[in-house]
Amino acid sequence: MPGAHIVLGVSGGIAAYKAVLLLRLLRERGHDVRVVPTAGALEFVGKATWEALSGHPVHTSVFEGAAEVEHVMLGRSADLLVVAPATADLLSRAATGRADDLLTATLLTVTCPVLMAPAMHTEMWQHPATVANVATLRARGVHVMDPDSGRLTGQDSGPGRLPEPEALEAAALALLARAEGVAAEPKPAPDLAGRRIVISAGGTREPLDPVRFLGNRSSGRQGVAIAAAAAQRGADVELVAANLAVPAPPGVRVTGVETTAQLRDAVRRAARGADVVVMAAAVADFRPATAPGVKIKKVAGRPPAPIELVENPDILAELVADPPDARTLVVGFAAETGDETGSVLEHGRAKARRKGASLLAVNEVGPAVGFGDVANQVTVLDANGEIVGEASGTKDDVAHGLLDLIASRLGGVGGA
Ligand code: C5P
Repeated sequence: MPGAHIVLGVSGGIAAYKAVLLLRLLRERGHDVRVVPTAGALEFVGKATWEALSGHPVHTSVFEGAAEVEHVMLGRSADLLVVAPATADLLSRAATGRADDLLTATLLTVTCPVLMAPAMHTEMWQHPATVANVATLRARGVHVMDPDSGRLTGQDSGPGRLPEPEALEAAALALLARAEGVAAEPKPAPDLAGRRIVISAGGTREPLDPVRFLGNRSSGRQGVAIAAAAAQRGADVELVAANLAVPAPPGVRVTGVETTAQLRDAVRRAARGADVVVMAAAVADFRPATAPGVKIKKVAGRPPAPIELVENPDILAELVADPPDARTLVVGFAAETGDETGSVLEHGRAKARRKGASLLAVNEVGPAVGFGDVANQVTVLDANGEIVGEASGTKDDVAHGLLDLIASRLGGVGGA
């Protein structure tokens, strides 16, 4: 996308000189770049450099160029906002939504992707305040790069170095390309408008004591992708989220849960009046029989006590046997591995018959596939174990493939 409108925010760190080179690289590719330094950044690189290389006037405060209401103008016109370097102070102000200069005010008005490249001393990068600010920004969808490790300002070295301009440029261009791809994608038909869909995602955690739990590797990506795709297709979506490793998508209602018991309650409550329940969460089959209220202690010379497990309710099977709403279409997921007793599909067929869900999406898991991975492949079976469809590709592709099957089973248009 040559000719994109990029806002380059620069905050006050010694690495600001690398932003000069980034500006040059972006300009050489034909992009229009508006530089918004903080007052601190101008202590390192002066206004004249930014103005001469960008070809635009440069302001640090909303009171300069006020006639244009620059932060709103920049926010509306930007295709990408890059902050490099992002200092600890800038991350903190962005995380708390401050608007005390032109850059932070612009950060509150942009709707385009935002890339931040932190740079600071290792101690500052690793301080819990910075760690929390970065987590907040990432949860909001800001792309915060990890700094490089290496020589810092003085003799010291460690994580905190601003990546080289070429790496910053590559990250910026990748985000631009992705944003362009999303914008070019045709919007899916609103074939689920008027439908209420409940989706469980993530993995349950069963407490062993106040600090430990039995859990699983589910990231929640597939369930989150289904929730996002269903919302795009017009459904009213409730996401029952168990310990997600990824942010919940916009436009869905989220109920956070931790344990299987909580997930069961939340799903059954939400299922009343729902057209579809998709159980994409990895639910623990067992939980510790007891979870003491105090931490289990290590006693020198004494072997650890064995952990007694008891079986959890099978929420999916219960939804089929005792549905909160008889007309709800119940969809399950089965993460399988093949073994000497049968292939992935054979195990999937047996599970489909056992659980009786309207649809069961079977996928193979192993150390490198299924969990956490970006790509996925599922075979969809009906309650008799017959193959009724397949979906593969990214987790978004799988989500839409599964929703195609669900939509065709729901029939008609809207929830009437
Ligand atoms: O038996 P398995 O765990 O492979 O079954 C997977 C499907 O069953 C998933 O849809 C999962 O959400 C659901 N499940 C459940 N309650 C359990 C275990 C699994 O609802 N206790």
